[in-house]
This record gives sequence, structure tokens and C-alpha cells, in this order.
Amino acid sequence: MKFFVDTADTAEIEELAATGLLDGVTTNPTLIHKSGKDFLAVTQEICALVDGPVSAEVVALDHAGMLREAEVLRRIADNVCIKVPLTVDGLKTCKALTGEGTMVNVTLCFSANQALLAAKAGATFVSPFVGRHDDNGFDGMALIRDIRLIYDNYAFDTQILAASIRHPVHVLEAAKIGADVATMPAKVVKALFHHVLTDQGIEGFLADWARTGQAIG
Ligand code: E4P
Repeated sequence: MKFFVDTADTAEIEELAATGLLDGVTTNPTLIHKSGKDFLAVTQEICALVDGPVSAEVVALDHAGMLREAEVLRRIADNVCIKVPLTVDGLKTCKALTGEGTMVNVTLCFSANQALLAAKAGATFVSPFVGRHDDNGFDGMALIRDIRLIYDNYAFDTQILAASIRHPVHVLEAAKIGADVATMPAKVVKALFHHVLTDQGIEGFLADWARTGQAIG
């Protein structure tokens, strides 16, 4: 499973990239606003920090406008992945861009039928929003499960990018189902490393090691 971080905060991205375990980045207009930085400039900075795909979202709602914005965004770097909403115009744009070899992430997916359309449009990634689905009384993981089943039935190449991840259990469940990617806030990535028994184990081993009076090397 690939791990993407869902942020436009370059300090967070740099810290996680240093672990060698970060496979990409997703941003959206809300995260760009939160960064307080210029969209194109911060996207360029992010693209230089990671080798993997960096999703940058168009804001036009019509096909021609999306294509125009995508043209500007894909000039930033080779690892830019154009993010389009799951609408008729978004999918038309997806089809056109992936046909030319540009990576596309189809975002704001809330049903398995929408995900089926995204795959038919040749999407590189589809982003079902697990957390927002749960927040509204639906079962986000059931959505991931349905999409996995459909994509496997037809051997679609589109990668399932579990998005709107709120906590480590979402990551665990998505991994068990076989989502290809999980994008999550930096605090969720960091939480994956921790376990109270790991901390206690280190404490105990170090205490006993000190009692041996030895040193390594
Ligand atoms: C995905 O690409 C989105 O940026 C993101 O996961 C949305 O998450 P949210 O529901 O926490 O805003």
C-alpha cells in the first residue's frame, strides 16, 4: 500500500519524506488556503520534495476551463497529478488528460458507480472520501470494498486512493480491503509508527542494558 500525505505544509512533507516511506502528496484548495502560500509556488516546492505523484486540483467546473488549468499545473513538474472533481466535465477532462499520458486523480468520489465511471475514463487514481462518507452516516469502508470488487471484476488499472482518512483504523481497514493508496494528514501517518508497548519495551531494554555496564563499539 502506498502512503500519501494530505497536506500543503512543506515542513510536514519534508519531515515525512525523510523517513523514506512517503510515496506521494495530495492537496486540495482548502489545504492550499491553509498553507497561506501561492498555489503554483507551493506545488512546485512540494514536487521537489517527493518523487511520487503530487495531486494539484483544478477549480474550473467546465471542461475547457479544466483543460486550461491542467495545462498550467502540469508544466510545474513531471510528478504533478491533475485532480479533477467527479462530474461529467471532470471525467471528460480525465479521459482527455490520461489519453495524453498525464496522471489524473478523480476526487470527491462518494459511490461505487462514480468510481466505475472514473475507471472507464482512464483515471490514474480515484479518491473515495472515507471520513466524509462516515460523517454523513454512510459506511466509508463499504464503499472501498465495493470499488475493490468492481475494479477486480474488470481488471481496471485505476488505483483506489482511500482519502479523507481520519485515524489509523481507517488505514488498517483500507489496507485489509486492498486499497492501493491511503492519503492522510501527517498526524495520522505519525500515529501509525506508535505503540505503547513499543515505548515500554524500549524503556525496559534500555534500563537492563544500562545495568550491564556495556557499550556497543
Ligand atoms: C483527498 O485528496 C482530499 O484532499 C482529502 O483527503 C479530504 O479530506 P477531508 O475530508 O479531511 O477534508
